[in-house]
Formats: sequence, structure tokens, C-alpha cells
Amino acid sequence: MWTAARLQRWLATSDFGGPIVVLANREPVRHDRAADGSIVVKQSGGGLVTALQPLIEACSGVWVAHGAGTADKAVVDWRDGVDLPPANPVYRLRRVWLDDDEQRGYYFGFSNEALWPWCHRAHVQPVFRSDDFDTYRAVNARFADAVCEEVDSNAPLVLVQDYHFALAPRMLRQRRPFSTVMSFWHIPWPRPRDCEACPWARDLLRGLLGSDILGFQTPSDCHHFVDAVESLLNARVNGARTVITHAGRRTVVRAYPISIEWPSRWARRSPAIRACRETVCRELELDAQTRLAVGVDRLDYTKGITEKFLAIEKLLELHPEFVGRFVFVQIAEPSRNTLAAYRALRARLVETAARINRRFGNGSYRPIVLLERHHEPADVYRFLRAADLCYVGSLHDGMNLVAKEFVAARDDDRGVLVLSQFTGAARELTDALLVNPYAIKDAARVLARALRMTEEEQTMRMRAMRALVSEFNAYKWIGEMLTDAARVRARLPSAALDACFDQLTPSIAG
Ligand code: G6P
Repeated sequence: MWTAARLQRWLATSDFGGPIVVLANREPVRHDRAADGSIVVKQSGGGLVTALQPLIEACSGVWVAHGAGTADKAVVDWRDGVDLPPANPVYRLRRVWLDDDEQRGYYFGFSNEALWPWCHRAHVQPVFRSDDFDTYRAVNARFADAVCEEVDSNAPLVLVQDYHFALAPRMLRQRRPFSTVMSFWHIPWPRPRDCEACPWARDLLRGLLGSDILGFQTPSDCHHFVDAVESLLNARVNGARTVITHAGRRTVVRAYPISIEWPSRWARRSPAIRACRETVCRELELDAQTRLAVGVDRLDYTKGITEKFLAIEKLLELHPEFVGRFVFVQIAEPSRNTLAAYRALRARLVETAARINRRFGNGSYRPIVLLERHHEPADVYRFLRAADLCYVGSLHDGMNLVAKEFVAARDDDRGVLVLSQFTGAARELTDALLVNPYAIKDAARVLARALRMTEEEQTMRMRAMRALVSEFNAYKWIGEMLTDAARVRARLPSAALDACFDQLTPSIAG
């Protein structure tokens, strides 16, 4: 079983010198200036932060990220860093400042208008602007420099995270040839045909091949990546399709399904299930007998939130006995809201919820409650613990950690997870009720089945999922990558290295 303590022991006895450096665009916490002038600390949303924050704490490492908070500059030391958590510092957050043009080109432009829709099949067309790509390249170089400023050894261990930094692994390799670079791509990798649509696909592939270890969420993401390097770069690939040789270097490509901290600190610190339910019902002015479903997503078009609302509408149409007795609470964290696709989605969502509420609402009863604001994790867990079911309806999702957090939240072994078959999590959480989120009527039937599931069946399914997530936790995720990185670092001859990596996934959940 991988735990924080085992991870610490592993690192202490390994020959990786110096602290681990995580390079990720999103900072785990931001400092914002409140209206009264005081500084408030906010936990960032998204799966990446959920998984990595406990790990950086356990490793006492350094996290290099964009300083995006309005008071971020006010709290850093002379080296643009801050020690966290404030009450009991165990790791360092190094902030990199970006001006408006850099944010527009690198973050909003190339990362979120080009790469995000390029990788997700959610019917939003990627926009490839060469100016954005130039800025993306320049910003990747700035972050690579910041990482180098943070390391004191010639051979540091750097964890490069996600699609914001496809070029950084190669840049790091050029700056520190002896470093160990482990990169993880949190979102899906496009199918070969779609991959070719990006005018700079070869640059991205070459950039990522600066890594020693390159991790994806699922075996099919690995297949797509390896097919792309073979066809676009003419790289050499071993028989198991796990080791790529390109420009005289080897990169191991494998699936490491990401996970969450176990036991979850948020579940441990939560009030009892009954208290969570009471406060949620009181806040939303719901009858204590209400059947409660929740969804927790960033307000993103990949998350299938509109389709979830349509499924709720169909449920109430097909099963009028739930009208007045069933409420779906959708927590929607505002995200990337200067982009047109996100603004259009928001307008559609608000309008769809209002229409369904007009159709089935009565007096104070509204079947859909849309909570469009940031919720701190403690609050999210309160909703997850209060609910009869959690609906994750992504149209395409690398993993989706909300699904795993719902499981972590339910220490009462109750509650039903309704999970889109198009998430990475669906490969592991086979005891969820799987749905095709596009098939509105089928999804409505599954929701009705979830609401009618016996307590015995709920317990059986939840226990199986809890056993799985507890073993395949975030410490195991990083532990397996580190174990592989140590093998690569041992500089074995090709045949011996191939023998180590004869499977796409180091250990298989489910
Ligand atoms: C996804 C991405 C992360 C990102 C998160 C939140 O989970 O894979 O890299 O941090 O969304 O999005 P944001 O744009 O706010 O960082």
C-alpha cells in the first residue's frame, strides 16, 4: 500500500538529490485581496491540484506556477516564493509572473483555445494562432528557467504537469542534461488523425520527448501518442510500445491513472453525514425527505453539464413521481470565462436550467439548483456527503477526480455514482452506474435506477469502489512513476530496459 510515509521513505533512500520540483501552471493556493483590503487564501480547483497538493506536501518539494492571485505579489519573499501551508510550512510555492499578453497567448490562447479542444472530443473546434504558439514557446522557456533557479543539483528531479508545458521537458533537458524529467499529461491525447491538425504537433512531440518518463491517464492515450511519434517523427518504438527512442534519447511512455489522497483529509475533517445533509437542506431550503443528486464541475464544455440538465428533465418527464421530491444541485466553478466558448456555455446552461425549472417548478420548488461560484473543498465534501447520488457526465475527460472524491467522501458506504463512460475513471470504477451522457433518455433511466437502488446494493458497490481507490491512490500514482524513473536513471542496456517496461500500465486497477 502506498502512503505518504512510504513515499517519504522511498525518496529518502533513493539517489534523487535535492527537492522534487513540480512545474504546473495552476498554483495550489492563491492569495486574493478582499474588498476590505485584507488578504484571503483560496484553494484552487481542478483535478491536477487535488492530486498533487498532498504529494508536494509529503515530499517537501517546490511547486513552480503562475502567480495569478490579486495579492500573490504581496506575500512572496525576495525570490518570488512563499512557504506553505502558512500555519505549518512544508513546501515552497515559487510564483512566475505573466503579463496580459503572455496570459492571452500562452494560457487563454494556445493552452485553452488550441490544445484543450484539440485533445478533448467535445465538438469545439481548436483555434491555432501562430502568435499564440510563439508566446506559448516563450512562456515555457521562462518557466523552465524558473525551475532551474529553484534547483541546487546538476541532476534534479522535475515533474512537468499537463498541456501548458509540452515544450518544457526538452528545454529542461537542454538546460540541465542530467536531470530526471517525469511528465504527466492529465487530459486525453488526440487520435492520430486529429493530432495532425495541430500545425506544431511535431514541436509538441519533440518537446515531450525531452522527458524520461511520460505518463498518460489510459492505455489508449499512450497508443495515440506512440502512433503519433512513429508517424510524425519517425521515432523507434520497442515491441511493447512503451519505450521510444528519438534523437539518441529514450522516453518511457506508460499509463499511470491519477488518483486522490487516501484517506482524504477533507473526508476526515467533515461533519457526520447526517449533519452534512441537514446543513445542505437548510441552506437550499429543501425538505429533509428530498432525494438529492449533485454534480461538481468546472464550468467547462467538456463536462456535459447541459446534457445532465436534459437528463434531469427527461427523468421528471418519464417519472413524474419524482417531481417535487427530487433536486439536482450543480456546483459549477467559474473557469476560463474570458473565452467565447465558455461564455456561450454559461448562457446555455443558465437558460436550460431556467426553462426546466419553469416547466417542473412549483412554488419554492426548483428541480435544478445551479451554484455558480467557487466552493472550497470542505464545502464540496459537504455536498458529496449529503447527496443520494453524484452525477459525473463528462463528454470526454482524462480521468475525472470528482468521481474518486465522491467515493472518498462516502465513509458511510452509501450513495450511488452515475459516471460517464467517456471518463478515464470509468475504466477503474466499474461499480459505478455507467452512462453515455449523450443518450439523454438512457441517462434518465439510469438516474431513476440510481434513485431506486436498495441500500444493500449501494453498500456493495460503494465498498468495492472504496477498496479500489484506497489502494490505487495518489501516492501509488507518483510511487509507480518514481520507481520507473529510477529504472531509467540506472541507464540499463536496451534489452534490460525493455524487459522492465513490457506492459503499458505498471499495475492494473479493477
Ligand atoms: C484540468 C487541467 C488542469 C487545470 C484544471 C483547472 O484539470 O488538466 O491542468 O489546472 O483543469 O483549469 P485551470 O485552467 O483553471 O487551471
